[in-house]
Amino acid sequence: MDSNKVYIFDTTLRDGEQVPGCQLNLKEKLHIAHELESLGVDIIEAGFPISSPGDYQAVERISEEIKDATICALSRAVPKDIEVAGAAVARAARPRIHTGIGTSESHIKYKLKTTQEDILERAKMCVTKARNYTDDVEFYAEDAGRTDNAFLAKVIEVAIAAGATVVNIPDTTGYCLPSQYGEKIAYLKNNVSNIDQAIISTHCHNDLGLATANSIAGVMSGARQIECTINGIGERAGNTSLEEVVMIMRQHPDLSLNTRVNTPLLNRLSKVVSQTMRMPVQPNKAIVGGNAFAHSSGIHQDGVIKHRETYEIIDPVEVGAGGSQIVLTARSGRAALRYHAERLGFPLTESGELEEAYKNFLHLADAKRNITDEDLMTLLEAVSV
Ligand code: KIV
Ligand code: ZN
Repeated sequence: MDSNKVYIFDTTLRDGEQVPGCQLNLKEKLHIAHELESLGVDIIEAGFPISSPGDYQAVERISEEIKDATICALSRAVPKDIEVAGAAVARAARPRIHTGIGTSESHIKYKLKTTQEDILERAKMCVTKARNYTDDVEFYAEDAGRTDNAFLAKVIEVAIAAGATVVNIPDTTGYCLPSQYGEKIAYLKNNVSNIDQAIISTHCHNDLGLATANSIAGVMSGARQIECTINGIGERAGNTSLEEVVMIMRQHPDLSLNTRVNTPLLNRLSKVVSQTMRMPVQPNKAIVGGNAFAHSSGIHQDGVIKHRETYEIIDPVEVGAGGSQIVLTARSGRAALRYHAERLGFPLTESGELEEAYKNFLHLADAKRNITDEDLMTLLEAVSV
């Protein structure tokens, strides 16, 4: 196994699809699953089969059709859930069952109303049961972010001893700081005797806007799988955004971490998911937002026109975003105006032409937010001799 490889576990179709209004039908789920396969994700969490007949059918069909990725089904630590999950992924080329239980004091006391001893028993039971259906079993310790590290280590040790091949450490409520999450993963690496028999996975939520930072802190401490979604969609404030973690690892070769994601497809996937799930992407979203490669202030535009890398750390082509955009607004400078004038066939070479055009442009831009090519042509024709 390549020790620098980070497995990308996409949960757009499970954690992402839980978002109100994002529910998908069978055809839409299949479409996204095929797109994710082309993108090169390693694992597709296709759904939670016990939750509804529709989700069961979707997981079953995805298992039949997708060949290049592991297909994963979610279940609680409940025998019937595991049985149904096992049946749903039975025809997958590489089936995985993702099962687990809450481990934090809050989950044990208020949600499950039980004891730590019982949690250890149930962790063992669910993994043992899941191993009857597949050799690839992932265990999740729900709310691991708020779980005491010593108890978490015990649960993880039991899960691995029962046969878990991947252990997921979810920051379910998005509570951890990157340093705390990184230390949690390091603690497990150092205090779980059988940890070398499993891959550690991150699963971070974005309630404090830290999901991406926490996932990266996790892999920097030794985790080798990241659970994430396209556009960062997911419960409440969302999950770790796939495009962000993939590009962070790519832009920082010093981390020596790699994935097999085909990055020029990232913007396409973002649009497919946004349109199919009816969930718009904020314009300032990293990597895939409409403004991710748009430059509107004069100082930045001047730099980018001279040398793109002055204000861009990613080549937009690398993530399928087309190219850099020089957007004309009342904050734009002469360099941007000249750039667009040349593009439209008005080189503005005569002395005074640029100044005259710029003065008129600023009046127009103050009055009108979006300057179209048509507006610009009218303005340039008036000053050209
Ligand atoms: O956030 C979470 O804890 C989850 C688990 C079910 C893995 O989504
Ligand atoms: Zn989650």
